Amino acid sequence: MWKPAAKIKHTADPGPWPSREQAAASRLFSPIELGPIHLAQRTWVPAMVPWRATEEGAVTQDVLDWYGAMARGRPGGLVIEATGVRDVPSGPLLRIGHDRFIPGLRELASVVRRESAGETKLFIQLIDFLAIKRRPSKENYFNRFLEITEAHRSHLGLSDDRAVRDWFLDAEDAAIAEVLSERELEAYRMGYRERVTDMHLSHIAELPRILPGLFADAARRAKQAGIDGVELHYAHAYTMASFLSPKNTRPDGYGGAREKRARLPLEVFAAVRDAVGSDYPVGCRFLAEECIAGGGELDDACYFGAAFARAGMDFLSTSRGGKFDDAKQPPVGAAAYPYTGRSGYECMPAYLSDEQGPFGRNVEPTAAIRRAVRAAGFTTPVVVTGGIHGFEAAEALLRDEKADIVGAARQTLADPVWFRKVRLGRGAEVRVCEYTNYCEGLDQKHKMVTCKLWDRVDLEDGSRRTPDGKRRTTAPRWTE
Ligand SMILES: Cc1cc2nc3c(=O)[nH]c(=O)nc-3n(C[C@H](O)[C@H](O)[C@H](O)COP(=O)(O)O)c2cc1C
Ligand code: SF4
Repeated sequence: MWKPAAKIKHTADPGPWPSREQAAASRLFSPIELGPIHLAQRTWVPAMVPWRATEEGAVTQDVLDWYGAMARGRPGGLVIEATGVRDVPSGPLLRIGHDRFIPGLRELASVVRRESAGETKLFIQLIDFLAIKRRPSKENYFNRFLEITEAHRSHLGLSDDRAVRDWFLDAEDAAIAEVLSERELEAYRMGYRERVTDMHLSHIAELPRILPGLFADAARRAKQAGIDGVELHYAHAYTMASFLSPKNTRPDGYGGAREKRARLPLEVFAAVRDAVGSDYPVGCRFLAEECIAGGGELDDACYFGAAFARAGMDFLSTSRGGKFDDAKQPPVGAAAYPYTGRSGYECMPAYLSDEQGPFGRNVEPTAAIRRAVRAAGFTTPVVVTGGIHGFEAAEALLRDEKADIVGAARQTLADPVWFRKVRLGRGAEVRVCEYTNYCEGLDQKHKMVTCKLWDRVDLEDGSRRTPDGKRRTTAPRWTE
């Protein structure tokens, strides 16, 4: 992963923990209305992909164990990982693109209800993503994938396509870069990746016609499965975030000026609302800042936040970065991963950081979005996430009205029941995340995500192990 040049070592410090009485009287553990439903506390576990579904995207025992463990921490809200809205294979990532996924998701909802004693509201993050291919070998790219064009032929003065291919196969990369177009060069160096601006591809041009229905059907299934609400994934490297980005220059009324970039996200939301009704919470996760050259900045996010609130979203959750645009070159045979560049660092900042450090980097941008939403006349709750791992920091940002709900992803991975420990006045027992990003490294390799603080502990206690048998899949159980 990319690291800031300063490489200043920061140590997580949760600060003092509250007594049980202090926790009971705190803002963090006070209830909040989230559209038509009620969260028992302002604690939130944002979406995290743990790579535990089947290759077909179905719920497994490992999925149930993963969410069951976090439900025992009784957060106010728990968001199921990014779950694909299409019925297409996508590896061991959850899917909701067909009714056959409903029974598994229903079981997941009932596990969370049982393990949280009914206290946690369960959301599911709905995602669409475009095609991305693995980085090809030179031989494969120039023998099979590259479409030889007149531009190549005339540049090289060769009329025979086989001769053009042979030229590329013999050429050095610097010479190749002179001949290929920008997109061809990217496909060669990084692996082919579709853009929302690829209007020459009919399935991309058609996205505004297709996506509202796909998201609406997925949301209906979530409701049918007994999941308490949906979070539309409008963040990071995926389709909907790409529509919101200034890099979206589509000429069809869905790109360019920011009101046009917001059009499809709003139409998707409207279709989802129609499908699930106003008694079912629907919100989105979007980027406070894209953190890439030419990407969306805070003023865009403030505009989008107010627009989403005006449209009737029940909550807004923020993140930052996580884009393909500045991802590192993957090895041959692997796909680019959107958390390897600076924008990836902004999404999941690690302990080696700059002056600002990895903790709470998204708090001030989120506060600005919240102010914009309030200035537009809406009380929509705003969820902030990023490096938050202590009671006092969480309490302070709620007191200062920087956000309404506090999300903690890696801290909850490190200790799935930490919110419960703090609520009971047993904060001293919290296993504090070290922000090493060992977990994120596993995610990058598409391996089951675990935490280095617990995955080799008590290996003999009979708990489930990762396929290589070396790591436990969930944290050792804590008893209240
Ligand atoms: C293993 C892993 C998987 C993640 N998967 C998702 C995801 O599916 N959707 C999403 O919006 N964010 C995802 N994230 C980002 C987190 O939700 C969160 O925004 C980020 O880790 C920063 O918060 P933290 O400092 O509390 O960990 C993931 C993070 C990790 C570590
Ligand atoms: S592996 Fe564990 S300690 Fe390291 S960042 Fe991930 S959750 Fe935190």
